[in-house]
Amino acid sequence: MVEEILPEVIIKDLGHDGRGVGKLSGYTIFIPGTLPGERVRARLVKKKKRFGEALLEEVLEASPHRRKPPCPVYSECGGCQLQHMDYSFQVEFKQDRLIQALYRIGEAQKLPSPRINPAGNEWKYRNKATYHLQGNHVGFFSRQSRRVIPHEECALLPVAANRIKKSLAGLLKQKILSSGKNFTVRTSFSHQQSLLILDESIKPRVSWEKVATILRKENPELVGIYQQGKGKKPGREIWGKSRIKEKMGDYTFELGPATFFQVNSEQREVLLKRAKQIVLELGCRNIGDLYAGAGVFGINLAKYVDRVMAVEISREAVAEGKRRAQLAGLDNIEFHRGEVEKVFTKLPRELDCVLLDPPREGCHPNLWQLIEEKKVKNIVYISCNPATLARDIAELQPLGYRIETLDLVDMFPQTYHVESVALLEGK
Ligand SMILES: C[S@@+](CC[C@H](N)C(=O)[O-])C[C@H]1O[C@@H](n2cnc3c(N)ncnc32)[C@H](O)[C@@H]1O
Repeated sequence: MVEEILPEVIIKDLGHDGRGVGKLSGYTIFIPGTLPGERVRARLVKKKKRFGEALLEEVLEASPHRRKPPCPVYSECGGCQLQHMDYSFQVEFKQDRLIQALYRIGEAQKLPSPRINPAGNEWKYRNKATYHLQGNHVGFFSRQSRRVIPHEECALLPVAANRIKKSLAGLLKQKILSSGKNFTVRTSFSHQQSLLILDESIKPRVSWEKVATILRKENPELVGIYQQGKGKKPGREIWGKSRIKEKMGDYTFELGPATFFQVNSEQREVLLKRAKQIVLELGCRNIGDLYAGAGVFGINLAKYVDRVMAVEISREAVAEGKRRAQLAGLDNIEFHRGEVEKVFTKLPRELDCVLLDPPREGCHPNLWQLIEEKKVKNIVYISCNPATLARDIAELQPLGYRIETLDLVDMFPQTYHVESVALLEGK
């Protein structure tokens, strides 16, 4: 389509992904990088029947919450969406999103006011980043397309991750490594350790040993290089170890290339603290840790309860959970590998608290019947997506569950992602 400069637009609201929403003669227009109350000039780049998408040309009247984004590639890179918003307003936006989702999708009648847990650090908080490659370009995908936007330093990542990225980009430029699809850097916040995970298509022109020596010289915290397998084929350690240590709660875990772990190490501790507080206050004795990952919640809670049942689909995560439990001398936590919606039937009836921490897609619909059959008293739902949290709560309400407390834990500053913990009590 021919791009069109629009007449002045007034931003009324924010969409779920942080884009400003304005109207022109009743037609809705989404404009990234704008804030409610602002008057802007924008260029229409996509015209659909019900809404259009435009790019910001000029802010004519700025919101008091506007700030200069520190990242020079912010307007192009798809990694962040909220850098132009001051941090307290970001948190307000997320609180609003959570509440709106619970009222609209979750059909909640009455909600407790959420407790807000802003991030201690709004920068350099991420312990994991996947970089995309296009020739010698290394970076994240653009906001609009799958074009890679290179950057010098990402403001959300710690020094170690930025440095490894820079070294890798250097090796690609010098053709010591051939370009591929992507690589991931995982960095421990409690130990001086990083792990580099390459996709299967990245190949060295010298030995891997030589590549490791060059990388280690610039990145002494690098403990291993792992290469993923093609398709479903297993990957392999190509140098060093394929795990890094990270202290989570009271225990140190060893995380492999595929094991899920919360990307914000500091805020993960806030989640753990809240889960422990709930379990202790309610006096829970038998708990389920569903979608357990390596059992970070279950293992940390085991010493306060009689029994923990952890369920997780990933083999690598379950193996790590079992190993940690054994090393910690915990004999009251059991790991079950498989899909929650299938394995849950095998768990005992008398669970008085179940922690649900599903991926963004939320829980499987078959779970609700099992929760009802097992007469689970309390549910602690840890969610990274308000829309699926609300959808799942709408299923739980007819079964007699009500939201007692709600916590917003900002795990993802500068992005629109919302993490929350809801405590639901049964009738
Ligand atoms: C958001 S993560 C939470 C992990 C863990 N609670 C933590 O904080 O580290 C979701 C986890 O659910 C697992 N998962 C996804 N679908 C599953 C399913 N149907 N059944 C069991 N586990 C599943 C993923 O492998 C992942 O480890």
